[in-house]
Amino acid sequence: MLACGYHQRLGDAHAEVVVLEQLGEAARGADLVVTLEPCSRYGRTPPCVDRIIAAGIKRVVVGVLDPNPRERGRGIALLQQAGIDVILGVEEEKCRQLNEPYFKYMATGRPFVTLKLATSLDGRIATRSGDSNWFSGPETNRFTHRLRRDCNALLVGARTAALDDPSLTVRHSQPRTRPLRVVLSRSLNLPLHLKLFEFQERLPTLVFTGKGSSASGIEALRTAGVSVAQVSESETGLDLHEVLERLGARGVARLLVDGGGRMAGAFLEASLVDRLFIAYSPVVVGQDGLPSFAMPGVERLVDARRGFLEWTRKSGNDVLASWRLGPEYWRGVP
Ligand SMILES: NC(=O)c1ccc[n+]([C@@H]2O[C@H](COP(=O)([O-])OP(=O)(O)OC[C@H]3O[C@@H](n4cnc5c(N)ncnc54)[C@H](OP(=O)(O)O)[C@@H]3O)[C@@H](O)[C@H]2O)c1
Repeated sequence: MLACGYHQRLGDAHAEVVVLEQLGEAARGADLVVTLEPCSRYGRTPPCVDRIIAAGIKRVVVGVLDPNPRERGRGIALLQQAGIDVILGVEEEKCRQLNEPYFKYMATGRPFVTLKLATSLDGRIATRSGDSNWFSGPETNRFTHRLRRDCNALLVGARTAALDDPSLTVRHSQPRTRPLRVVLSRSLNLPLHLKLFEFQERLPTLVFTGKGSSASGIEALRTAGVSVAQVSESETGLDLHEVLERLGARGVARLLVDGGGRMAGAFLEASLVDRLFIAYSPVVVGQDGLPSFAMPGVERLVDARRGFLEWTRKSGNDVLASWRLGPEYWRGVP
């Protein structure tokens, strides 16, 4: 192997360009192996296809076609027209999985939804008074900020916004993006001094509320520079499908749902969670602590939601676990 590279952050050089810059003249006559079809249009960076042709690459091995309809097959065709051999479909499924959120977004127009909770050993996300500040250790906090960094939007429920007063920013790591901050609230019982509403010029916040919400509440938020979008609602809350449609239309391809329990329960009940991260901390808060998923219970275990464990790992004094939920993942699980 002569060189290898990857696309490090949004707006930076794509993997192909990273590698070609390392190689210089040594790229002439070489094979290039890529997971995703090289891009053929100007986006945040110039087209990789032009760089590959100019570098004199002899053969390109591609894992999977770009699902973006504007790109799909175009990069391959341009390479072939330039006389470069192309082998397509090597480890296709693995390459698709590597970039799963992008494939979901392209197929559905909705973001890939990651839900993250920090829980006690007895499965609670806060004490009975709503205290959850000390749940996770510093290693898990760093993991959370890496997750945030890799998302386009961070979403919380109104009670988390009001009780915890989170800033919903990316810290402890170089930010790849400045994720959009999102709050869901029908009541608009959200004081304007919350940290979420600070620095609107550079860290915008979007509040989703109902179509019947108070006009004066909406006006107050807009005057403070906060964006407000109105969606359908039912007695249980805002229509989460519509929320995802709207976020997708704004270009949000990766969404992190960062609490609390009602939000987690609502997303789970609506089968809208693509990946679930739970950080278990060695603490027991008792049965009246707040549940991880505030949603109606089931009578029979056969009706319960089931998941598939992707991985676990130690994170300081906590245990991190990544789960997939939904029928497509529990085939073969008793
Ligand atoms: N350990 C953790 O990982 C973690 C993370 C975050 C928060 N927390 C803790 O969680 C607690 C807050 O959680 P929570 O369950 O009380 O509230 P929550 O999930 O943060 O917020 C629920 C609120 O969101 C609004 N909402 C809008 N649409 C909704 C829908 N479709 N479904 C559900 N809610 C909708 C409602 O407020 P409106 O009436 O305004 O519509 C509802 O009361 C706090 O104590 C916080 O410290 C823990």
